[in-house]
Amino acid sequence: MPKLPHVTTSIFTVMSKMAAEHNAINLSQGFPNFPVNKKLTEIVARLAKEDVHQYTPMSGYPPLLNKIAKLTLQSYGRSVDPETEILVTTGATQGIFTAIQALVKNEDEVIILDPSYDSYKPNVLLSNGIPVRISLNDNYSTNWDLVEKACNENTKMIIITNPHNPTGKILSLADIEKLEAILEKFPNIILLSDEVYEYISFEQKLISVNTRKLLRNRAVIASSFGKTFHVTGWKVGYLIAPEYLMKEIKKVHQFLVFSVNSIAQAAISEYLDQTSVDEISAFYQQKRDYFQQLLSGSRFELMPCEGTYFQVVSYKTISDENDVDFCKRLITEHGVAAIPISTFYENGKDLKLIRFCFAKTDATLEEATRRLCKI
Ligand SMILES: Cc1ncc(COP(=O)(O)O)c(C=O)c1O
Repeated sequence: MPKLPHVTTSIFTVMSKMAAEHNAINLSQGFPNFPVNKKLTEIVARLAKEDVHQYTPMSGYPPLLNKIAKLTLQSYGRSVDPETEILVTTGATQGIFTAIQALVKNEDEVIILDPSYDSYKPNVLLSNGIPVRISLNDNYSTNWDLVEKACNENTKMIIITNPHNPTGKILSLADIEKLEAILEKFPNIILLSDEVYEYISFEQKLISVNTRKLLRNRAVIASSFGKTFHVTGWKVGYLIAPEYLMKEIKKVHQFLVFSVNSIAQAAISEYLDQTSVDEISAFYQQKRDYFQQLLSGSRFELMPCEGTYFQVVSYKTISDENDVDFCKRLITEHGVAAIPISTFYENGKDLKLIRFCFAKTDATLEEATRRLCKI
């Protein structure tokens, strides 16, 4: 009996492969196509000749752990102990998987919002936990009454994504306060806050769980240097959690990967002294605004984008096709790849919405929208 009978190749793989086969502009998978900062590539080139090629300590390269602690203090005013409360991971993906493996047991219920990033549910199933999907409202706000109703003595974890992929939504202060009220009512529930787009928020700024005392003492927070420094292929991220949770997470991590790529850790550690995360939101806001402006001449309807580098659009006025077929046709007939939003839903709810990634050069966005405006 397979362990994940319903899991097939992810939509990101399918669409990226199709985009390559048809020579389409790939706005599907979430990765930048502009050059990595020269400072970072120079650091890597130099480090390749230095003594940074062996295993690092299990929880991370010590200078990087210290820099993450410093970044967390600067960004969120939170003091974390680099030795006991931080774990460098092979991307947020491995961090999230490891946290779920370590903390969710047989029959534990895990609340996952719907739509959601695709890795959470299989992660929970592999821990023999029970995923409990709770629908977001149609405007993608969270229905906290439904979340609270779903909580019981078997609920082990609530997973949130903030800023949210695929919708680009950011939790408001009122949302965070409602979440706090639920966790106060249910003292055994742990929060897993996926904040990989933490440095990409626009008019409404992210309220990180790092800044909320009540939440952070019960939370595992996932970050991604891949997203923050435009190097998704490096697969370096980290978790922050209080020591009592981190102790358990490290037990799984040491047998899953033991330690993460040493050169990448050393490079990011140096780079953190030479760059600022404060400029990232403005950089992507400019891309979002430009992409929106270019698309305004099309028949696609723009949905709000508060954070992340994803723009969701409706194609309701263009076609009645389901969103998967529409995305396939977008590739084969119009040469642009997108992601159908139905694939983020438990039951494939089709609202005629698709997601574009705008973490691309201006030239790519211009050519893609030139094609999209002809539809
Ligand atoms: C919401 C969310 N979480 C986690 C990840 C994975 O991050 P990483 O590439 O660091 O593994 C992604 C990547 O797209 C994501 O969108």
